[in-house]
Amino acid sequence: MAEQIELSNEQALRLVDTFGSPLYVYDERILRKRCRDLRSLLPLPDYRPLYSVKANSNPALLRIIREEGFFVDAMSPGEIYLEEQAGFQPEEIFMVTNNISDEEIRYAAERGILMSADSLSQLERFGILYPGREIGVRLNPGIGAGHDEKVVTGGSCKFGIEYEKIPEIQKTAKAHDLRIVAINQHVGSLFLDYDTFLEACRRMLAIAPAFPDLRIIDFGGGYGVPYQGEARLDLSGLSRELTELVRGFLAECGSPDIRFYTESGRYIVAECCELLGTVQSRKEVAGVRYLGTDLGFNVLIRPVLYDAWHEAEVFSRRPAAGAPEYELVQIAGNICESGDILARDRRLPVTCHGDVIGIKNAGAYGYSMASCYNSRLRPAEVLLTETGEAKLIRRRDCLEDLMRGVVL
Ligand SMILES: Cc1ncc(COP(=O)(O)O)c(C=O)c1O
Repeated sequence: MAEQIELSNEQALRLVDTFGSPLYVYDERILRKRCRDLRSLLPLPDYRPLYSVKANSNPALLRIIREEGFFVDAMSPGEIYLEEQAGFQPEEIFMVTNNISDEEIRYAAERGILMSADSLSQLERFGILYPGREIGVRLNPGIGAGHDEKVVTGGSCKFGIEYEKIPEIQKTAKAHDLRIVAINQHVGSLFLDYDTFLEACRRMLAIAPAFPDLRIIDFGGGYGVPYQGEARLDLSGLSRELTELVRGFLAECGSPDIRFYTESGRYIVAECCELLGTVQSRKEVAGVRYLGTDLGFNVLIRPVLYDAWHEAEVFSRRPAAGAPEYELVQIAGNICESGDILARDRRLPVTCHGDVIGIKNAGAYGYSMASCYNSRLRPAEVLLTETGEAKLIRRRDCLEDLMRGVVL
């Protein structure tokens, strides 16, 4: 089976003609395949992968991911709400927080959802609000990884509590009679070489015995997918080495009753989605050729935010009989900012008005980071089911949505 969603020329044009442009198209088979890859990462009965819904929170996709045996993590009450809509139960949700309010702590705690505190002061807040309860703590392993410094979350950054502060964690917990039942950490997002991740896991297991009430160890996520033809993450190598590490830990600690989690978002949803948009104009300015499309950074912000590279392809309204002619283009969006360039210096078949541009790997941090900037309407989302049906899983925004919540 293919590693990514693959649409035929005819299929892509039909989808856009039926559901409008731009459009996120998801392939259920690829989604399930990715879930199964990660489900088998740790061949231990006490392993449970979490899906990080920040990558994509459409409840129709969450339902599929739940069917594949995943639990979920949540950063906010909004994510918890969507997870509940998809059928996740409180014990299947782990709230991994960062700088949350008392109201947000209460939202999770009143539902019986286990949360983890990201700082000593938040641990203290939780203790004041819910003395005697169970809680987790997010640790900072001192090393990080990721595709951009904005998403490196271990080492010098705003996340987690350093290992050196474990005595203070214990003191704070004791003061409020809290039981630290979970520890979690996350080195960062998108690594294709797992050395740093594994080293962070090793460090975490080494300090785990400092928490006598522990029943959950969450190694975090960040498993990358290739965006620009890189070698795939060697999951079987990672599985082998991580399993060995965990087995060693269990043997050394007399097989404690501990459940292991991972927290992956991108790996699960990136490759099952292609974002389709339409060529609206062509022009040259100062000798540079622009393909003007409706793919503004409001629908895929990664290239603008992180200089991320996404593969682009053309679905032509008038496919050439022979080999197509190619041209060098900048794929621009329709947002009123010069930086609104989705892809630079791409050699693509010559396009005309109405042709469709496909952007690969758009399933992670695509719709979930989409906005209504320039008062644009967010696109629809469509799922290609295993039976081949194209099923609408979110309608396109309408103009009235722009007035939702407005008080005049
Ligand atoms: C705490 C935490 N867990 C999980 C993830 C998911 O990362 P990814 O989508 O790279 O797997 C993130 C993303 O930044 C995160 O901050």
